[in-house]
Amino acid sequence: MQSSNPAKNRIIVPLDVPTAQAARELIKAIGGTVGFFKIGSQLFTSTGPHIVEEVRASGSRVFLDLKYHDIPNTVRRAVESASALGVDMLTIHLSGGRAMCEAAVLGRGVSNVLILGVTVLTSLNDTSLSESGFRCSVEDQVLLLAEVAKNVGITGLIASPQELRILRERFGSLFTTVIPGIRPAWADVDDQKRTLSPRQAVEAGADYLVIGRPITASRDPEIAVQRIVDELEQAS
Ligand code: C5P
Repeated sequence: MQSSNPAKNRIIVPLDVPTAQAARELIKAIGGTVGFFKIGSQLFTSTGPHIVEEVRASGSRVFLDLKYHDIPNTVRRAVESASALGVDMLTIHLSGGRAMCEAAVLGRGVSNVLILGVTVLTSLNDTSLSESGFRCSVEDQVLLLAEVAKNVGITGLIASPQELRILRERFGSLFTTVIPGIRPAWADVDDQKRTLSPRQAVEAGADYLVIGRPITASRDPEIAVQRIVDELEQAS
């Protein structure tokens, strides 16, 4: 992606909170200092779509992370509705099949929303895939599903730090990559198992970084963001 993209615009902060009020407090603290806020299932389910309008009204961009996975027509309509809400990025599961992925692209219509394909959730490993009937490794499955994305014109991928390398080797810079599991050296690892620092992730080719608790659980989220921006600026 654009190496000219200012460091702060690469940072996506998940609003992993249960209420609109808690989300507002985070937005008040760091809105304007990061590129995007991510709205996931918890907040969206508890507040409804007006939280998207509220985040947009604050001047921030929105990544709607509801990971659609359904029959093609339903996903097409869901993507239409999300696009109409004015979100900037949204997620679908690439494992929903080629027809479903094509339907998602149709649902985007003329909007500029970036569709991000989820390959294999980082909570799964080779054993879990095998238990679900898949006869291939996580790595092979990621590459297979990235190929589906490429074939239907989906240009964004959610990837784990571990998959960045193989995706770059196979697809070059075709995909805009959004990477969770980021931990600055000064932050707790929490429950993330395989992490990269912001700088390592960008050097490995990440376009956007999803960074939650190092910012949101910090005593001063604004200072935490600034430390990460400084690290990213040194990297570039
Ligand atoms: O607090 P932390 O930085 O671990 O938050 C990471 C965010 O990215 C959470 O919203 C989590 O649900 C999301 N995520 C993840 N790993 C994935 C996909 C999404 O941590 N593979």
